[in-house]
Amino acid sequence: MSGNLFSVDCDNPDLRLISKAAKILGDGGLVAFPTETVYGLGANALDESAVRKIFIAKGRPANNPLIVHVCDMAAAKKLAATWPSLADKLAEQFWPGSLTLILTKNHKVPGIVTGGGNTVALRIPAHPVALALLEKCDLPVAAPSANKSNHLSPTRAEHVQADLGADVDLILGGGPAWGGLESTVLDITCSPPRILRPGLVSPGQLEKVIGPVELLSQGQGIKEKDLRSPGLINKHYAPTKPLECIARDDFSRLAELLAQGIRIAWITFPDQKFPEEEKIRKVVLPENAKIYASQFYASLHQLEKEDVDYLFVTLPPKEEAWLAVRDRLRRATYKLDS
Ligand code: TXA
Ligand code: MG
Repeated sequence: MSGNLFSVDCDNPDLRLISKAAKILGDGGLVAFPTETVYGLGANALDESAVRKIFIAKGRPANNPLIVHVCDMAAAKKLAATWPSLADKLAEQFWPGSLTLILTKNHKVPGIVTGGGNTVALRIPAHPVALALLEKCDLPVAAPSANKSNHLSPTRAEHVQADLGADVDLILGGGPAWGGLESTVLDITCSPPRILRPGLVSPGQLEKVIGPVELLSQGQGIKEKDLRSPGLINKHYAPTKPLECIARDDFSRLAELLAQGIRIAWITFPDQKFPEEEKIRKVVLPENAKIYASQFYASLHQLEKEDVDYLFVTLPPKEEAWLAVRDRLRRATYKLDS
């Protein structure tokens, strides 16, 4: 334990600790907990004043709706006005897991959770600690990523503690969130269903189950004033240090900034070698998109703490496997073309 952070064994979650966290949620408090994507900042979704605490702790605009986490299908169905067969197919295939479904909400879901809109985002996470907590509290839990608005999402309990600290009543530490990137957000209130945010479940995986899906590309159809999913706006998921993407084998910008005396960090692939690399902080991530994704935010969090001024990232390939990583890079830089 350190401050309000308590570690839980994922294989055998300590039931006393889970009960304590569940009681905090039942009493209207905030609990940060691990999911397989990133850590979430949870409150009882049915308690308006508890949910308000999330918005305050994060500094999140009230029009940005929250994902509601549930432990099973029955709990999910209780919150939707209708449950299309599409939802059954998707849930059967991907829940528990990294897919968030947007459905029409019913009267049980307070407007504060949905940013005033008539849809609700639902997900059953695939993390034993999250599931133990959801089962124990027997409540739907509204939980955005457990970071201040516009900061990086946390993939470790320490990231949550550093960013939100005492604003959270209790942080359940369950080791690194192994997915490392947020869930795929899929709107199934429209036809064809539309991916609002690419994530760990790819369009190809979805299409195998439900046929064609539409991918909302950056900025497409979205005006900041009438956002359906404000988390889609550009300046999200960004580190505080400037981040620039560079093409493979193009080291000209590295050389240019190095010559100006700027302290550079470079997240790149194993085959990329800069001639003066002893003068820069190099982080090598694997070519495998899933493993890369699992380490990407953690690498950025690490570099935020180090004595470097400027971050470069070698662009991953334009392949579906890299869609979510490229999406987050685009938001972090504004510079990536699609
Ligand atoms: O992996 C994840 O999704 C994590 C873990 C904790 O579950 N959660 C997460 O939540 O990333 P958050 O709030 O950081 O991002 C949720 C995204 C936002 O872009 C939000 O605008 C969108 O989902 N969203 C939530 N409810 C929505 C709704 N009813 N309609 C459209 N978009 C919605
Ligand atoms: Mg977030």
